[in-house]
Amino acid sequence: MDLYERLKAAQEAARKAGRLILSSRDFTVHAKALHDYVTETDAASERLIREYLLSRFPGDDFFGEEGGGSNESTGRWIVDPIDGTNDYIRNIPMYSVSIAYERMGQIVLGVVYAPALDEMYTAVRGEGACLNGERIRVSPMSDPGTAAFGFSANVRYPGMHDTTVRILSDLLLTCGDLRRFGSAAYELCQVACGRIEGFFEYGLHIYDIAAGVLILTEAGGSARGWSPEEDVLKTCSICASNGILQDYLSGIVHL
Ligand code: IPD
Repeated sequence: MDLYERLKAAQEAARKAGRLILSSRDFTVHAKALHDYVTETDAASERLIREYLLSRFPGDDFFGEEGGGSNESTGRWIVDPIDGTNDYIRNIPMYSVSIAYERMGQIVLGVVYAPALDEMYTAVRGEGACLNGERIRVSPMSDPGTAAFGFSANVRYPGMHDTTVRILSDLLLTCGDLRRFGSAAYELCQVACGRIEGFFEYGLHIYDIAAGVLILTEAGGSARGWSPEEDVLKTCSICASNGILQDYLSGIVHL
């Protein structure tokens, strides 16, 4: 029961943050690192979500992209206040707010909200996944030749460029289409609701993927790391799919 209270609160927090994000177009862009940008809106969104959730559940811990926080607890929120800040800066509408709840080391609840599109993706472990309250499933497509995959080209990791070029070349020869949405959380939800068949990116962070991976797996998809033995939620290099095309995609997306 308390999980459903948290799910409701996470959706409320995401909608409140969404309203703030949509009404804050007057910001300064700061570089956190090479090709890694942040605005005052990211910090304000995280502050709002943190205050809202911790006022409702004072015993919980909180870990956010901008403010950090506790890494070890029995229950903590994992939050990316704007996933796809580059999209947000450029007014491309596919950025999202990502909120996950982890209990005893397991992600048990995920909310990804794209405010500019008013798309609310939700999942509770073992209970399936929804888009705006309607149940979603991954695509049944099994032919790579007609499948579409989302990806990021890892501009932040120059050492990965050769690998990225090799992967893209192999995919261009065999798959149906490639897409780049700009928010890993949103892209995982696009696989979850069957709009695309897979998504991959090297070197993400737990706050980018925690909610999206749960939503995807609850919708029938799968999420692996870039090598068979790795735990995707530890390395955060992700190769995700509708499940049916996982072996095809993992056969190409690796170091
Ligand atoms: C970014 C998005 C993007 C991915 C970047 C991430 P941020 O998150 O998820 O899709 O390609 O690697 O950093 O920084 O905008 O929260």
